[in-house]
Amino acid sequence: ENQDALSEIASAATLADLEAIRVRTLGKSGTITALLKTLGGMTPEQRQVEGPRIHALREAVTAAIADRKESLEDAALEARLATETLDMSLPVSAGMQGSVHPVAQVMDELAEIFADLGFAVATGPEIEDDWHNFTALNIPETHPARAMHDTFYFPDREDGRKMLLRTHTSPVQIRTMMTDKPPIRIIAPGRTYRSDSDATHTPMFHQVEGLVIDRGIHMGHLKWTLETFVKAFFERDDIVLRLRPSFFPFTEPSAEVDVGFTWEKGRRVIGGDPAAGNGGWMEILGSGMVHPRVIANCGLDPDEWQGFAFGCGIDRLAMLKYGMDDLRAFFDGDLRWLRHYGFAA
Ligand code: PHE
Repeated sequence: ENQDALSEIASAATLADLEAIRVRTLGKSGTITALLKTLGGMTPEQRQVEGPRIHALREAVTAAIADRKESLEDAALEARLATETLDMSLPVSAGMQGSVHPVAQVMDELAEIFADLGFAVATGPEIEDDWHNFTALNIPETHPARAMHDTFYFPDREDGRKMLLRTHTSPVQIRTMMTDKPPIRIIAPGRTYRSDSDATHTPMFHQVEGLVIDRGIHMGHLKWTLETFVKAFFERDDIVLRLRPSFFPFTEPSAEVDVGFTWEKGRRVIGGDPAAGNGGWMEILGSGMVHPRVIANCGLDPDEWQGFAFGCGIDRLAMLKYGMDDLRAFFDGDLRWLRHYGFAA
């Protein structure tokens, strides 16, 4: 009987079979449990003989069950490992993939184009004070750009520092001239803010500032730099720029720059000469020679250092290059719009 149970355990094929044997022998109404109960009705002499025998039997069966259980579990694991293989060389399922936003893409393109011309990328805070955003740039208290309807101001501070959301990237000119020693060649792309909203204006928009400070810089350097940049950006050599006299408090002289477009197969394309009659001009940026007073405001000697600066709307550039017509759509995060212009899969 003893040997029967042990050989049955050793040949149990499954964990369920083994459990059935355990219940049948060691369970509440199992055979070995019944044997243990008989000890109570025995004489002390009988118990002295039968007690150790029955306990030994129980221990042998318990140990055999534990042993068999372990080997059945090992075998089950082996079987699972053998069948559940994972092929690491299979391609993953194609889920949603992120892509680069047109504005970010244009910023990258600008950084690359200007890097080739020796320009570094500079940055400044979007929350500025009115000294960097206006005063240092020679914009007097009475200038219309300071009017509340254009500028987002923060509540007054105890220390009197007037904080605002920068209305252009030009304060980065000031910050760069105050920390870097000339010669300076930087572009400063980033977010700018004005309280304005329609198809071509959003309260937040993007500009890129350009600044060169060195000895003997003149308008010719500005014109060549802008032409080189615009040709590289629109990837055409036949682009014509038009510099129109203009006014900015921080540049003198100042020029607004238009880029020539022509009609090709009913589409407005940047490039070609509008003077030929089939096209027109689009304004793309403001520029000029840095005002000597601005150079002096930054602690540099304007008799030694001259320079040029320009400020250009990045969203505008993206619209012109990729043929988009509503600026507001740039910031809607609508995947259909991105797909339409090829910016998302
Ligand atoms: N900051 C000007 C604007 O936002 C653009 C500009 C920059 C003009 C640098 C001249 C020089 O309109």
